[in-house]
Amino acid sequence: MKPYFITTAIDYTNGRPHIGHAYEKVLADVMARFQRLNGREVYFLTGVDQHGQKVQKSAEKEGLTPQQFVEGVTGHFTALWEKLGVRYDGWAATVDERHKRVVQAILQKLHDAGQLYKKSHTGFYSVRQEQFLTDKERGPDGSFGEEWGEVVELREENWYFKLSEHVEWLKGFIRSHPDFIFPANRAKDVLNALEGEPQDLCISRPVERLSWGIPLPFDEKFVNYVWFDALTNYISFAGYLAEECGNEGLPDFSKLWPAEAQVIGKDILFPPHALYWTTMLRALGFTDGQMPRLIVHGWWNIKGAKMSKSLGNVIDPDHLAGVFTPDGLRYYLMRDIATGQDADFSEERIIMSYNKELAGGLGNLLNRSLNMAHKYRAGKLAPGGYDDAENQALRQTVAGALPAYSSAMDGWAIHDGIAAAWKIVTHANAYVDSTKPFSLAKDPAQAARLDSVLYHLAEALTHVSVLLDPVMPAAMQAARAQIGWAMPQSFELGDLKWGLLQEGHQLGTPAPLFPRLETAQ
Ligand code: ME8
Ligand code: MG
Repeated sequence: MKPYFITTAIDYTNGRPHIGHAYEKVLADVMARFQRLNGREVYFLTGVDQHGQKVQKSAEKEGLTPQQFVEGVTGHFTALWEKLGVRYDGWAATVDERHKRVVQAILQKLHDAGQLYKKSHTGFYSVRQEQFLTDKERGPDGSFGEEWGEVVELREENWYFKLSEHVEWLKGFIRSHPDFIFPANRAKDVLNALEGEPQDLCISRPVERLSWGIPLPFDEKFVNYVWFDALTNYISFAGYLAEECGNEGLPDFSKLWPAEAQVIGKDILFPPHALYWTTMLRALGFTDGQMPRLIVHGWWNIKGAKMSKSLGNVIDPDHLAGVFTPDGLRYYLMRDIATGQDADFSEERIIMSYNKELAGGLGNLLNRSLNMAHKYRAGKLAPGGYDDAENQALRQTVAGALPAYSSAMDGWAIHDGIAAAWKIVTHANAYVDSTKPFSLAKDPAQAARLDSVLYHLAEALTHVSVLLDPVMPAAMQAARAQIGWAMPQSFELGDLKWGLLQEGHQLGTPAPLFPRLETAQ
């Protein structure tokens, strides 16, 4: 079977990583980890978008070369992914020479195929913002606002891609491939947007205006402009044209492509991914069966104007990971949004999710279960012969969680996957309250029942630690260490059956998994 090839948008390196970047990378990482657990081979590619005007300007402002500038900013992204446990197999950095060679090879191919042409354009140009303005930028009185500074009429030559030649094909493709875009309602938006006669795409900038880019191989007076460069990362780092370009250390393209999931935010669905990317691929000769699948997530917004100001530094993901632990942040980012929809970042919600759910719900269940087993049985499990309806009910909840979890996770409903696993946590907590192991311990006649209760709790928690592993890999590994059960390397969801812990199993040492946060730090 083909590996599950998952990619994300590559982040602009003109600023620090924010909560939206963290969300997208964690979402992709959770899916990659889930698919591995699901028995699939996975290749996860992510990276950074390092060229362009904004970077060139920011570097100038700081007195650095663009190369120095992007190296510094890229370091903040890689450090954050390391901290958050975002574990990728391939790193797409657009300044990589291998990528540049593929971009140039693609441009040359399209040029040779007659897909590119040169045209001059006259328009209004903002000297301050270094960009051409369109009617969209005009105010109600028809003039360009003050923010654009001096606006001059300018004539400029550029290279264009014959994108409009492929639009009819694209409409048909989207209509006949309902799985192409997730969630499906976004495909309708794309079809509507395509009704507006898309223009050919300008793919160059004169070097006098922009030097921090990839030169066009057939015209040295120009560099490639943004999207052609950035979008190509998905194939250049997957090994496309590797041999032709002399690229080494990349995967075998024929085994990976097409991507099963390209995870992007809603703002870059149209036109970049749904229009530029698909038509680029088609112009290069990719068939319908070689189009990637787009997974379009929503945005995290900041609640209330008043709150956003005071939250300024708190919504820095690095800071949040420091306060709530990396897995505490991962959990919040996955449980409080439905993939495809928007969510509001809220300080109260992240505190609640950590203190009430992780510390109070899961952490407390693990801690009290293990503590009781140590207190009453020196941490040794003896499932024994006792059984009753309460035990059966808990086992049923555990068994029922897996199919619900699997189908939710596989369908990008991570929050539902978490909820499915959480049913075990809720049931097990209620089970402690109703079986009252502390009372059973006082009555020698209840010894076998107590053994069965302690065993059921430990076994149920082991299942939870597997199901929540993709979301909280470090914490769930720590939980398993406390339980004294290590997940085998080859373990798959299909192996998740009651009876993971054997007769005589020795539990490890309990310690608070998610220490409670006393105040909002
Ligand atoms: O767009 N909530 O880079 P980028 C959720 N380099 N996701 C968000 C978000 C938010 N508040 N803000 C941004 C780019 N994102 C290009 C992509 S791909 C070939 C090139 C998401 O750093 C955004 O939707 O602005 C995008 O998917 C990703 O973060 C990177 O955004
Ligand atoms: Mg953006």
